Amino acid sequence: MKDLSPKKSDLDPIEIASRDEISALQLQRMQWSVRHAYDNVAMYKKRFDDAGVHPDDLKELKDLAKFPFTHKNDLRDNYPFGMSAVPRAQMARVHASSGTTGKATVVVYTKHDIDVWADTLARSLRASGLRAGDMVHNAYGYGLFTGGLGAHYGIEKLGATVVPMGGGQTEKQIGLITDFQPNGIMVTPSYMLNILEGFHKAGIDPRSSSLDVGIFGAEPWTNAMRKEVEDAFDMHAVDIYGLSEIMGPGVANECVETKDGLHVWEDHYYPEIINPVTGDVVEDGDEGELVFTTLTKEGMPMIRYRTRDLTRLLPGTARSMRRMEKITGRSDDMIILRGVNVFPTQIEEQLLGTEGLAPYFQIELFKSGHMDAMRVITEATPVAADGASKSAAATALTKRIKDMVGVTTEVIVGDPGTAPRSQGKAVRVVDNRDKG
Ligand code: DLL
Repeated sequence: MKDLSPKKSDLDPIEIASRDEISALQLQRMQWSVRHAYDNVAMYKKRFDDAGVHPDDLKELKDLAKFPFTHKNDLRDNYPFGMSAVPRAQMARVHASSGTTGKATVVVYTKHDIDVWADTLARSLRASGLRAGDMVHNAYGYGLFTGGLGAHYGIEKLGATVVPMGGGQTEKQIGLITDFQPNGIMVTPSYMLNILEGFHKAGIDPRSSSLDVGIFGAEPWTNAMRKEVEDAFDMHAVDIYGLSEIMGPGVANECVETKDGLHVWEDHYYPEIINPVTGDVVEDGDEGELVFTTLTKEGMPMIRYRTRDLTRLLPGTARSMRRMEKITGRSDDMIILRGVNVFPTQIEEQLLGTEGLAPYFQIELFKSGHMDAMRVITEATPVAADGASKSAAATALTKRIKDMVGVTTEVIVGDPGTAPRSQGKAVRVVDNRDKG
């Protein structure tokens, strides 16, 4: 793999500023943001008034804990534009996520917000090892999803060339990567596995591809998956995090020189970790739910937005800004099986450590008598697709999950090509517990 470490002189000065400088900037911006929300969004005014807090009470960063949380439901309840802090004429763009139930959540950006987003995304790409003059294949979905257009503007802002491919059409993706020879690719990690499969099907060695780095996010993935993809393509794999409510992709990103968790771009997005049950802020280093406050967003300021993503905050390394550890999972995706908490990422880690299994899987929950039960549906690699190998792999994975995660599961190892494939964000858990 190439050494892609960026030059210090290419970084934004604030990325390597002192903690005191960063905190001073954060406080000034946070005071603006809380006031902007209070003055221009009826929901915030009511919430703050009901909680007996006022923007003037924010005298230091830790005073943020006095302010109430914002939840995904608040966006639904104020559909479509009730959370917007600007008149329609100042909305430069909207994005939305469909969600599985109820109304879409809509987010609003001003022209300035789009610029900040492109800047922080360009910063993410630089941290990933890309620079002006590079070419980036963008396979995040375009449209209401923030992935495609968010990445697109960031790639342009960096001064790189964007290939606006979008999601799907795997064969075409392989053709474009082979013909255009991009240095970087942006895509969900689960869809990258489809692209890998596409290379094999086309008889092209993925290690011979032009790709030096993949920037993977929009869903949880493990260091085991990083190794799988890095080895397969002989390229770096780095993690990009973000969410529409706060901005979109590029709220935090790993640095290619350390790959030790994601630096949060704290000059625009202020992180806290809370105990999800009590709502209390926990110390840096302790695990809990990630909460974000936007510091510069005009269109739709978010004050203490509960992401439901579980992680912990760590001190900066390659940059002064704090890191968040790779996300374990969303609290919504946590499976509680006979009292044991299980995340799909734990299954991914064990599966990738089991010989003879391909990296595709889905978890099915079902009822066995009155008890909840779990089944992992995966498949054999082409070289281990005979009956004996498949059954040995199933036994091995069942044992690993029992030993390492602590739950009993059924494992189904199908023939190559039979496990469900991702078309973007992978659907890791299918809940059939109410289907008899
Ligand atoms: O997924 C934005 C994005 C696009 C991020 C492309 C990175 C790359 P939403 O659709 O609003 O936005 O979904 C946000 O996805 O709360 C997490 O649960 C999950 N997520 C995003 N990035 C990561 C990541 C985009 N790197 C939700 N690791 C978030 C784990 C992630 N989960």
